Amino acid sequence: MANKADDKMSRLVSLCKRRGFIYQSSEIYGGLNSCWDYGPLGSELKRNIKTFWWEAMTNRRDDVEGLDAAILMHPAVWKTSGHVDEFTDPLVDCKTCKSRFRGDELKDKTRCPVCGNQTLTESRQFNLMFKTFMGPVEDDTSIVYLRPETAQGIYVNFLNVKNSARQKIPFGIAQIGKAFRNEITPGNFIFRTREFEQMEMQYFIHPSEDEKWFEYWKGERWQWYLELGIRKEKLRWHEHGPDELAHYAKKAFDIEYEFPFGWKELEGIHNRTDFDLSRHQDATGKDQRYIDERFKEKFIPYIIETSAGCDRTLLTVLVDAYDEDPSRGEKSTVLRFSPKISPIKAAIFPLVKKDGMPEIAVNIYKILKTQFKVFYDAGGSVGRRYARMDEAGCPYCITIDGQTKEDDTVTIRDRDSMEQTRHKIAELADFLQNAVE
Ligand code: GAP
Repeated sequence: MANKADDKMSRLVSLCKRRGFIYQSSEIYGGLNSCWDYGPLGSELKRNIKTFWWEAMTNRRDDVEGLDAAILMHPAVWKTSGHVDEFTDPLVDCKTCKSRFRGDELKDKTRCPVCGNQTLTESRQFNLMFKTFMGPVEDDTSIVYLRPETAQGIYVNFLNVKNSARQKIPFGIAQIGKAFRNEITPGNFIFRTREFEQMEMQYFIHPSEDEKWFEYWKGERWQWYLELGIRKEKLRWHEHGPDELAHYAKKAFDIEYEFPFGWKELEGIHNRTDFDLSRHQDATGKDQRYIDERFKEKFIPYIIETSAGCDRTLLTVLVDAYDEDPSRGEKSTVLRFSPKISPIKAAIFPLVKKDGMPEIAVNIYKILKTQFKVFYDAGGSVGRRYARMDEAGCPYCITIDGQTKEDDTVTIRDRDSMEQTRHKIAELADFLQNAVE
């Protein structure tokens, strides 16, 4: 029997499809496992999350620059970074039912958890990088990889960015982009997929200041999730033990969120030391050292990395915002997104389709549309229209009624409190601006 957590996830997944947040990729062909498409509301929500991250991590700071590197990189990058040899998971097959597992996730290493037979293979290391070929010839010399992390695009551009932006250490480089991993066990909707987007920032520092900057970025990233509107009690830290640390990390902390399927990693903050730049320097012979006036020495910078998944953040936002409120009647689902990231900022309704109300409503819609993502709806009762917007996570519904013609006021209904207040039409743009800032 499905448990409560499965129920909640399955209701969320069906809401996502019905309302156009997320669809299965290539659905009319039966779908492609672990690949998802973002619909009209989902793509807007994703864009808002990325903008929120980009503004916090670059535009509002003087010490972090942006970058948009290519997905395909020189294959030697991945050899140097350690991914060709070490970016692996242990793969175990069941010879009877052909199920596949990650060896480290199996509780009983001797018995298949699906069919119960003791027919599991020995675990073998499986590299998670996707390979393809560049150019017309498909041989070993034309192999290129789809990047498994965006970080390497930043490291190989360290000198370029430092020089062209005239930055001095400490400074960072931020990037949002696609990454690909041939995960053995993708799942939990968009939590673990084979194609996903990362939001990563690499902060270059003097080695003696690694503890200080590690703590600083832990604090910044924690605060970012609170500002995104995520409930504090659903977040916690997890420090990586020696057996969990990635091959490049000296120290790592994850921010975890309590999903319906358990506490899981949302973002990693890593002290990558001088591992990456040293390896690239050794492999290319290009000097990655920095001359520091403060420390009067030449050194390879240490790197503090903040690495978040965009799709995973979006799932967190959806799960955290999802609420079923029986006081709203049968159609009781509400997505309580922060107005800063909600896909639609306001809906505009004429109370009825007569007495000049639609004309005023369309006019307001056209004005607000130049500044905000707004939605016009004249179909069905106002109650039904409110319910539709609650499900879309729209924080405000603006209704044009009989009084509007007399005093140029409208009602604004707040999604969360369901309270209605009257406002001048001329003040609507300021009201929305304050709410989304
Ligand atoms: N550059 C370091 C790095 O990539 P990671 O812990 O492997 O570190 C960082 O990944 C973040 O990327 C994770 O915390 C998660 O949010 C996201 N991520 C990683 N693998 C993912 C996958 N298969 N599907 C969705 N998101 C993923």
